[in-house]
Amino acid sequence: MKHLISISQLSRADIEHLLEKAKDIKSSPQDYSQSLTNSIIAMLFFEPSTRTRLSHESAALRLGARVLGFADAGTTSTKKGETLEDTIRVINGYADAIIIRHPEYGAAERGAAVSDIPVINAGDGSNEHPTQALLDLFTIQEKFKKLDTVRITFVGDLKYGRTVHSLIKALSHFNVHISCVSPASLRLPDTFKNNRLPYQEYETWDEVADTTDVLYITRVQEERFEDKQEYNQLKDKYILTPKEAEKFSSETIFMHPLPRVVELSPEIDTDPRAWYFKQAHNGVWMRMAILSHILS
Ligand code: NCD
Repeated sequence: MKHLISISQLSRADIEHLLEKAKDIKSSPQDYSQSLTNSIIAMLFFEPSTRTRLSHESAALRLGARVLGFADAGTTSTKKGETLEDTIRVINGYADAIIIRHPEYGAAERGAAVSDIPVINAGDGSNEHPTQALLDLFTIQEKFKKLDTVRITFVGDLKYGRTVHSLIKALSHFNVHISCVSPASLRLPDTFKNNRLPYQEYETWDEVADTTDVLYITRVQEERFEDKQEYNQLKDKYILTPKEAEKFSSETIFMHPLPRVVELSPEIDTDPRAWYFKQAHNGVWMRMAILSHILS
């Protein structure tokens, strides 16, 4: 694997290898502190990010690498009209790998096409977010000690939510049970459907609450809507409050890629089933596994 653009590039064995590696890194991170001491990692963030950028930076630093980059493309030559391809060609002379986030669907692939150094997709528009899918799998496995037979319910914006797209593709290698809960207009697009993993669609979680091991909640992706009125009508359709949480078993975990807006009540944070901050923290270990796998 040179670049990581889509989760579809990975086989079940590749995913299991990365899960194993992330587990080992989490249990003894000091053993990896010199793994990438001669590497420079470039962070090219053309779109807002907190977790994805900083956990990649943390991962690179914990591997002994150094980092450079930008978090606001408004301060770069993109503002003067430079193409993405030219930016990537130039950074090829400054770094050993590129982590890229971009608002356009397919941007990471376009970047990789002109790059001699590895490119890792940190989210391209409403398409994919493969490193998030891997850290999500790691978190599910940490709780259930397996992925096969786990029952996962996706909730919210399944149309534009790129973390859902990559995670569903990744799950197609495992014998999981998937349910999708969304408004009719925000259903999973056909391109991300998988024949190997048939799933049922619902408009409320009530029907699946007692058969859900992982409730994977997402934010309605405001920035992808042309019609803000439509966004306003959909944004608070699903809100996990303590009262709603009572419908789920004590063994269910609540996941969310974050940031949350209204869909996850802060009152849930003290519920032992709330796993979203653990999930965010796991990003560091999985991204260390990915970076060292690609660069060593
Ligand atoms: C997600 C993203 O950027 O796609 N955030 C993240 O990387 N953890 C989800 C979101 O923005 O809703």
